Amino acid sequence: MQAATIHEYGDASVLRIEELPTPVPKGAQLLVKVHYAAVNPVDWKMREGRNRLVLSPRWPKVLGHDLAGEVIAVGPRAKRFGVGDAVYGMQGLSMGAYATHAVVDEKTFAKKPESATFREAAALPMISLTSLQVLRNIARLEAGQRLLVNGASGGVGSAAVQLGKILGAEVTGVCSGRNLELVRSLGADHVVDYGQEDFTQGQVRYDVVFDCVGNLSFAQCRRVLTPRGVFVSVTTNAAGFVAGRVCNLFRRQRDAQILVALPSAADLQWIAQQVDAGRYRPVIDRSFALSEIRAAHEYSETGRARGKLVIEMPPA
Ligand SMILES: NC(=O)c1ccc[n+]([C@@H]2O[C@H](COP(=O)([O-])OP(=O)(O)OC[C@H]3O[C@@H](n4cnc5c(N)ncnc54)[C@H](OP(=O)(O)O)[C@@H]3O)[C@@H](O)[C@H]2O)c1
Repeated sequence: MQAATIHEYGDASVLRIEELPTPVPKGAQLLVKVHYAAVNPVDWKMREGRNRLVLSPRWPKVLGHDLAGEVIAVGPRAKRFGVGDAVYGMQGLSMGAYATHAVVDEKTFAKKPESATFREAAALPMISLTSLQVLRNIARLEAGQRLLVNGASGGVGSAAVQLGKILGAEVTGVCSGRNLELVRSLGADHVVDYGQEDFTQGQVRYDVVFDCVGNLSFAQCRRVLTPRGVFVSVTTNAAGFVAGRVCNLFRRQRDAQILVALPSAADLQWIAQQVDAGRYRPVIDRSFALSEIRAAHEYSETGRARGKLVIEMPPA
């Protein structure tokens, strides 16, 4: 199989394309012919070695979490899927999505939304799982509540705006001026251009502030939270996570974080239903060929992507 690999940590130049043996599915694994993968910021953070303590010491590493493709072989204990099924999902720490073939755990994957192309399906898993788990499980967002999404034009933000609307919230999206129309088109009730206005100094109070960028803190936002409001950040470390939890014991407002989005077949099935019902769609900025993986990472690292970057695999 062809794969984008790294043999050392570093900048985008450590990425290379090479031939590797095609893996064989064991147990409840599926072998997927990957049609598209997607780039997430965590991929280049992994490439830089930021999470090296939790990664296996083996080289080469095939990066990439999100993928969509077709099952071409199943392990002896696989029960949920068969050869020919179109699936999508998010790999855990084993990664491996930037390849023409990937073995995945069938317990964490789901059938691709029928109305979505493989390209669209690959763009969905991590951003959708993150947003859903934040809004539903961590913030416990209720219909009629006010949600503010900071970074509303990025991957996670574009998902959070749409899922916030599906969950019945009144949604405000914060983005740069060039992305206001995009965020409105996703269903945001209100948009704020962060170049013109600082929402933390405004009069509106929010039940949930979801920071999808990492440039805000609970302290900065608590003035614009309702008395029982929740601030959720996607960028934290274990120390910040624990400190927030301990301090929350002594106050009504909550400082909450998501450390990692968890793979979940049930959540992916729910997301596929939303896509097929026409309520939810991925925003895709650009497609890159697998051979252009360095350019895709460099673009993601600018922090200016509008929605997702997807990687098209070469034909077999
Ligand atoms: N903990 C977890 O489980 C988890 C899961 C997924 C992602 N994450 C993290 O979440 C972060 C976001 O991920 P992503 O996939 O959404 O990234 P992304 O798609 O690369 O985000 C790019 C977006 O950020 C926006 N942005 C940049 N500066 C901004 C600012 N000052 N205010 C508002 N928006 C700003 C940009 O909009 P403009 O061009 O309009 O400024 C752009 O649309 C990353 O750090 C990622 O690692 C964590």
